Amino acid sequence: MKLKIAVLKGDGIGPEVTNQAIKCLNAIAENFGHTFDYTEGVVGAAAIDQTGDPLPEATLDLCKNSDAVLFGAIGDPKYDNNPDSKVRPEQGLLRLRKGLGLYSNIRPVKVFPTLIGNSPLKKKIIRGTDFVIYRELTGGIYFGEKTLSEDGTEASDLCIYSEAEISRIAHLAFKAAKNRRKKLTLVDKANVLESSRLWRRVVTKIGESYPDVELSFLFVDNAAMQLILNPSQFDVILTENMFGDILSDEGSVIGGSIGLLPSASVGDDNAMFEPIHGSYPQATGKDIANPIAAILSAAMLLDHFGLDEESRAVVLAVFKAMKKEIVTEDLNADSEFGTEAVGDFIANNIAMSDDHISLNRENIWLGKSTII
Ligand code: IPM
Ligand code: MN
Repeated sequence: MKLKIAVLKGDGIGPEVTNQAIKCLNAIAENFGHTFDYTEGVVGAAAIDQTGDPLPEATLDLCKNSDAVLFGAIGDPKYDNNPDSKVRPEQGLLRLRKGLGLYSNIRPVKVFPTLIGNSPLKKKIIRGTDFVIYRELTGGIYFGEKTLSEDGTEASDLCIYSEAEISRIAHLAFKAAKNRRKKLTLVDKANVLESSRLWRRVVTKIGESYPDVELSFLFVDNAAMQLILNPSQFDVILTENMFGDILSDEGSVIGGSIGLLPSASVGDDNAMFEPIHGSYPQATGKDIANPIAAILSAAMLLDHFGLDEESRAVVLAVFKAMKKEIVTEDLNADSEFGTEAVGDFIANNIAMSDDHISLNRENIWLGKSTII
């Protein structure tokens, strides 16, 4: 397969972790006979410094003309501490999502068996956790009209959703549930918000076309509690933009490090793959950032294009790194391995492994694989 991949490394640790993901994609290309062509574009604070714009036109065009986007991270403390700043790195990411029509953000949360002790939660609570959040990404309060009164004392952000926006992501979430454990939970605040009541009506109606998927509803405050009390009850969680933002950060601590979690943002014509962590400016250039979320995002990219075996090869190599404790210091405080070394180990193991091919995905994810 030939793929044109736009690479937006962004700010902070973005470049170093994305470089490790590219190493792994190169190992896949070589081993499985694919051609991946990469073109870099600037985004975020790095783009503001160069052009004054967090998403220059050229970068958006590059992404539109590519098959997929590999994204690092954006954000810089010099903007975080200044709420009055007119231009912010995050605007680049939001415009990119909107501009590419990436309405569905997919965030899997899984507890890796070999890292179960890393979680701040008790093992008996988190064992078996394996859910995926479908977060709506181009609507809701993030994109509704914003106002600020002239005297600066009143502000508002409108949370608006249309039936069409709800239904396109709902179909993707139901299809995902159908291929998993057949449970879908819609998270909302339907006891208070009109927009949530619309979500319930639309999703209930769509559910009739997926009779084998069990649909349930949970208010977001309760969902925040249930995620910590009993995360293994969830299979697919479907929710609107801001609830999904918050719950996915909460979900990320279950596995022990936010440095492990990948994501995919997909639309009808484009797809982007990025770690869910931010730019972690304190770690920039220190070779300590965990590259695994970026590498697993590359695995999601492969999966998205139907390259299942290739995706599995990446995941297995990641498991092997964890099993052998070739991990960064967030996972093992005494670790002598840095970002590059972990990336090299994983890429080299992709190149070497041809014994994985007959393993089935479920066994791999459940940690039952014999080769790790
Ligand atoms: C995320 C981030 C973004 C969001 C920020 C950087 C705008 O937190 O991808 O979850 O809120 O969507
Ligand atoms: Mn977030």
